[in-house]
Amino acid sequence: MPRILAGLIFLGTVANATVPTVEVAAGVYMPMIAFGSYRGSLTNCSVQEGIQQWLQLGGRHIDTAHDYGTEPDVGAAIKASGVERKEIFLTTKIPGPIGRGAVKDMVMNETLQKLGVDYIDLVLIHFPCVNMSDFPNKCGEQHQQERLDTWRGLSELRAMGKVRAIGVSNYNAEQVAEVVAEFKEAPAVNQVQWHLAYHNETLRLAMRKLGTTIEAWASLAGPTSAGVPAISLGDARLKALAQRYNRSSAQVELRWETQNGIVPVTASCSKDHAVGDLESFSFALSDEDIKYLDALAPASEEFIV
Ligand SMILES: NC(=O)c1ccc[n+]([C@@H]2O[C@H](COP(=O)([O-])OP(=O)(O)OC[C@H]3O[C@@H](n4cnc5c(N)ncnc54)[C@H](OP(=O)(O)O)[C@@H]3O)[C@@H](O)[C@H]2O)c1
Ligand SMILES: *[C@@H]1O[C@H](CO)[C@@H](O)[C@H](O)[C@H]1NC(C)=O
Ligand SMILES: *[C@@H]1O[C@H](CO)[C@@H](O)[C@H](O)[C@H]1NC(C)=O
Ligand SMILES: *[C@@H]1O[C@H](CO)[C@@H](O)[C@H](O)[C@H]1NC(C)=O
Ligand SMILES: *[C@@H]1O[C@H](CO)[C@@H](O)[C@H](O)[C@H]1NC(C)=O
Ligand SMILES: *[C@@H]1O[C@H](CO)[C@@H](O)[C@H](O)[C@H]1NC(C)=O
Repeated sequence: MPRILAGLIFLGTVANATVPTVEVAAGVYMPMIAFGSYRGSLTNCSVQEGIQQWLQLGGRHIDTAHDYGTEPDVGAAIKASGVERKEIFLTTKIPGPIGRGAVKDMVMNETLQKLGVDYIDLVLIHFPCVNMSDFPNKCGEQHQQERLDTWRGLSELRAMGKVRAIGVSNYNAEQVAEVVAEFKEAPAVNQVQWHLAYHNETLRLAMRKLGTTIEAWASLAGPTSAGVPAISLGDARLKALAQRYNRSSAQVELRWETQNGIVPVTASCSKDHAVGDLESFSFALSDEDIKYLDALAPASEEFIV
């Protein structure tokens, strides 16, 4: 089970924001909220501006991917922020099961340069299949050898000190189990779509047993959540609950995730929203309200993917 520690990540930028961390691999502490760098997440600012604001406000965890084309923007934002490299937790994703040689070439010859860093905190395999329309449950054993070969490449990059921790994204429990069976280690992280109307208790329990931390993409059912049920931030049930805590709907949804051990990836151009996201740790939902929020999702039979 991952160890969750409360840690003061920064001083003097945002008054009340203490972001806890979770130990995702030995000695690797990941702040429990991330800023996403997919362009579509940001409606009213550039990726570089959004990240710079996040860093200025005290956010320290940034999520990007080769496929987003925004690694150079992340690099520029980090550089311009003046925040020390070692204070930042930087995640990127390699496209999929591309194989051992390709992943090493990509990280060594492309990703590090684009990000302007000499190591990456966390690298994820973005998808279990090459054909995205097949993921996750339709992949079956297709590409199994490529997935394992790609993991081997990542573990070699880790041994070289270029990557601190390695994980996966959009994997189901069976695909995670392949890694465990072959390498006798569990992925540090599995980043999957997760919000109030769309979450999977079977997956959560399987990952918890392995000590794999779940990260939530589209954590507020935002721009990337197309194709599955969604509960909007304006939902009357969510608003009524939020009002009782004197918090925003977004803060309640993020806190529901973090109290369940899930690390949200979100994004905003708005300074007020970004502050609200970082300050979502300053209150706690009751167990009863967490259970209530857990139960808002429609039955899974309605949205088998
Ligand atoms: N691994 C994968 O396959 C995968 C897939 C999709 C996405 N992702 C990652 O997940 C990231 C986030 O995805 P997403 O954009 O769908 O996330 P999201 O958190 O569900 O939605 C982001 C939206 O939430 C709004 N927001 C944020 N904080 C708010 C607050 N306090 N109050 C009200 N609204 C708030 C923002 O709007 P405002 O600007 O108006 O605040 C923003 O447009 C991506 O950038 C990417 O890094 C990964
Ligand atoms: C976009 O951001 C600017 C400041 O960066 C703000 O003045 C403006 O109101 C925002 N527009 C919308 C639609 O959020
Ligand atoms: C990187 O590029 C160089 C020169 O193109 C090549 O020799 C090398 O094998 C590549 N891969 C790695 C992992 O360095
Ligand atoms: C991806 O899968 C879909 C549905 O299974 C199929 O229609 C499509 O041709 C596949 N694409 C490639 C490039 O294999
Ligand atoms: C939930 O996750 C489990 C384990 O990965 C998977 O077998 C199942 O199909 C998932 N359920 C849905 C509705 O996606
Ligand atoms: C509710 O929160 C606002 C700031 O978000 C604060 O100004 C106000 O005093 C709070 N009200 C109560 C009753 O705590």
